Amino acid sequence: MLLKLLILSLVTTSALAQTSIIICSQAFVDDICTCNFLIFNPNGFNNLTVVGNPITNCTFEDTKQAIAMGSSPNIPSAICSHLPNLEKLVMENVGIINLNGMPFRNCGNLKTLQLGNNEIVAIPAHVFSFTALELIELNNNNLTTFDEHAFDNLFRLTTLNINENSNGIILPETVFHHLISLQSLLVSNCGITSFNSSWFASLRSLILLDLSRNNFSTIPENTFRSQQSLRLLNLSFGQLETIPETTFQNITNLLILDLQSNKIKEFHPNLFSSLTLLQNLHLSDNLNVTTPSNIFRSLQSLRTLELSSNNVTVIDGWFSSLSNLININLSNNNIITIPDNTFTAARALQRINLSRNKIGILDSRSFGSLHMMTELDVHNNLIDEVDHSLVSQSSILRIVNFSNNNCTQLRTDSFNESRSVHMDAMKACFDKFDLKPIELQTFNSTVYNWYSIRTNDGWDALHISVKAYENVHIALSNSTNTTEPPIEIIIGQNRGRVSSILDQGVAVFSDNNERRLDETAFRDFIIGWRFGIVMVFEAGEQMPFMGYNMQNRYSVDFFGLRTIISLSDHKAEWKASRLQMSSTKSLDDVYADIKNKLNKNIPIDLNLYLR
Ligand SMILES: *[C@@H]1O[C@H](CO)[C@@H](O)[C@H](O)[C@H]1NC(C)=O
Ligand SMILES: *[C@@H]1O[C@H](CO)[C@@H](O)[C@H](O)[C@H]1NC(C)=O
Ligand SMILES: *[C@@H]1O[C@H](CO)[C@@H](O)[C@H](O)[C@H]1NC(C)=O
Ligand SMILES: *[C@@H]1O[C@H](CO)[C@@H](O)[C@H](O)[C@H]1NC(C)=O
Ligand SMILES: *[C@@H]1O[C@H](CO)[C@@H](O)[C@H](O)[C@H]1NC(C)=O
Ligand SMILES: *[C@@H]1O[C@H](CO)[C@@H](O)[C@H](O)[C@H]1NC(C)=O
Ligand SMILES: *[C@@H]1O[C@H](CO)[C@@H](O)[C@H](O)[C@H]1NC(C)=O
Ligand SMILES: *[C@@H]1O[C@H](CO)[C@@H](O)[C@H](O)[C@H]1NC(C)=O
Ligand SMILES: *[C@@H]1O[C@H](CO)[C@@H](O)[C@H](O)[C@H]1NC(C)=O
Ligand SMILES: *[C@@H]1O[C@H](CO)[C@@H](O)[C@H](O)[C@H]1NC(C)=O
Ligand SMILES: *[C@@H]1O[C@H](CO)[C@@H](O)[C@H](O)[C@H]1NC(C)=O
Ligand SMILES: *[C@@H]1O[C@H](CO)[C@@H](O)[C@H](O)[C@H]1NC(C)=O
Repeated sequence: MLLKLLILSLVTTSALAQTSIIICSQAFVDDICTCNFLIFNPNGFNNLTVVGNPITNCTFEDTKQAIAMGSSPNIPSAICSHLPNLEKLVMENVGIINLNGMPFRNCGNLKTLQLGNNEIVAIPAHVFSFTALELIELNNNNLTTFDEHAFDNLFRLTTLNINENSNGIILPETVFHHLISLQSLLVSNCGITSFNSSWFASLRSLILLDLSRNNFSTIPENTFRSQQSLRLLNLSFGQLETIPETTFQNITNLLILDLQSNKIKEFHPNLFSSLTLLQNLHLSDNLNVTTPSNIFRSLQSLRTLELSSNNVTVIDGWFSSLSNLININLSNNNIITIPDNTFTAARALQRINLSRNKIGILDSRSFGSLHMMTELDVHNNLIDEVDHSLVSQSSILRIVNFSNNNCTQLRTDSFNESRSVHMDAMKACFDKFDLKPIELQTFNSTVYNWYSIRTNDGWDALHISVKAYENVHIALSNSTNTTEPPIEIIIGQNRGRVSSILDQGVAVFSDNNERRLDETAFRDFIIGWRFGIVMVFEAGEQMPFMGYNMQNRYSVDFFGLRTIISLSDHKAEWKASRLQMSSTKSLDDVYADIKNKLNKNIPIDLNLYLR
């Protein structure tokens, strides 16, 4: 404290005397001999008096770092001639305007130079050339002019920060050509209006390049030809309108690419095709993006995709390669429908933001597995129907936002903590979804088309209308990814096949009556599975023609529809409706009787019920 007062009074008297001076107060800071100095140099002299309070093992000779307060329009060469072993010099916010007079000529060991928040206008030739600089900060200055030899001989430089020189810097073609060790180049908000494709040609070690908040509208071909090491490229908040097809071709190790808030209208289909390691792609807030559907096809490593505010309307097929996607943001676009299987590849999705679109229906068939989902934000849509399986699949779902929608306004940060209360709040959405008949066509395949059903809420039957020549298959399962569903029901009778019920692929009931399907007219069936007993009715008949007691070994959360593999093309046309068996009065009698027997522990003989 005493020392500070002394220094202050010295400075005041010096100011009065118009004497330029540097007063250095030496001390160990983190075991480093440090000179915190006051500089007063209104006339920009180079050769001024330096006084100090050297202690035994922290003399001028020993000083490794120096940190300035005060003001000076230049960096007096006296600093380096008095402190020749400096490794770090910090002169921020002291009003430096120029770097004339080779101020660092005697600082051969200088590694770190922090000159941010000054008013430096130009970088002269060779000004840093005789140092060992590894880091230079020139952010928030008034830089416009760089001599083409400004950074010559800085073979060890790893970080160069010239952010926020917003008057507009002019970079000579070869200005960075000696910076072979440079890892971070920060040139944000520097008013760059055009590019020279040679600027980065020698920067083979570059890991981070920040060119955000500039004014260029395109990037010349081959600009990033040498940037194989680059991991992070920031081109955000600029005026980019077009990006040539090959721009990112050689940046094969890129992990993060930020292009948000530009004026890009179109992305070339091959623009991202080399970026197989990319994890984070930010494209939000561009203009009215019309994107070819296969543009993301190579991005197998992508974890986060930001696509908000792009006036996106159609997303069919966009995400079919993104098997590592965890976060998707499509907020504030014009999406109306999310086609089936849009996100099927993304089996580990955690955060989904579809807010501020025009979506009316949320169907789990648009997604793959949602077991990892923790956040679902769909606020401000027109949602009137929700597949319950979308929100019930994940036991770790926490954040749910349905505010400003039609069938629910649910908004919570703790969905999984009171799941049944929140599911009740969405019941109107589920009911509207479940009451709507499913219409589809299936072709010969071993793969089922899966749909959810709320058995636990009493939805324990299906009404199936089907037009087909060959047999059709209906599966009951607790998951959509079983290759062999627990229960399969085959209906139809052609070419010696029979209608039957299979338990894990083994026929447990066969119907030998003629019950052929018709390819020109719908036939109607009801399949129920109350009390663990599967029964298959032909519509209009009081008794089932097939039945099987699965004895509550299987729970039914999904049903699947498919057409058998056949030598000829085989097609089926379906209308399937979810039902509550208790609402089909006539057929429910059979189950009512079974319920009665179950309550009295009377063994069930299914033959008593079958036609
Ligand atoms: C000023 O610089 C000259 C050489 O240019 C040197 O001889 C002289 O000692 C310096 N004066 C101070 C006060 O450092
Ligand atoms: C400097 O000297 C003091 C007193 O002799 C000693 O305690 C301290 O460890 C020394 N520091 C260094 C970095 O040599
Ligand atoms: C640096 O820029 C600031 C803000 O634009 C301005 O006030 C100041 O006069 C400039 N200084 C020089 C030396 O150009
Ligand atoms: C760059 O763009 C910004 C924002 O549009 C503008 O304010 C600035 O004047 C431009 N600078 C140059 C050098 O064109
Ligand atoms: C790059 O700089 C060279 C040399 O100054 C010049 O000939 C060339 O036109 C520049 N290219 C661009 C795209 O500005
Ligand atoms: C990619 O690198 C090769 C080899 O260095 C070079 O010939 C080619 O021009 C580069 N391509 C682009 C688009 O930068
Ligand atoms: C969004 O796209 C639609 C049609 O694709 C177009 O009518 C509308 O003008 C676009 N909006 C904006 C802000 O570009
Ligand atoms: C947006 O895209 C649509 C369809 O490509 C086009 O018709 C419309 O003119 C675009 N709007 C703007 C503002 O670019
Ligand atoms: C919103 O809900 C109301 C009442 O349930 C219904 O009349 C209307 O058609 C729904 N709007 C949309 C867009 O689904
Ligand atoms: C589905 O049922 C099978 C038995 O068929 C069981 O092994 C499996 O754990 C169940 N899976 C889920 C997700 O409930
Ligand atoms: C299928 O679902 C089970 C859980 O029921 C899961 O353990 C398994 O990984 C899933 N298989 C695939 C291919 O996703
Ligand atoms: C059905 O299967 C047959 C035989 O495998 C095949 O030739 C035919 O193309 C398939 N039809 C459809 C519509 O998939």
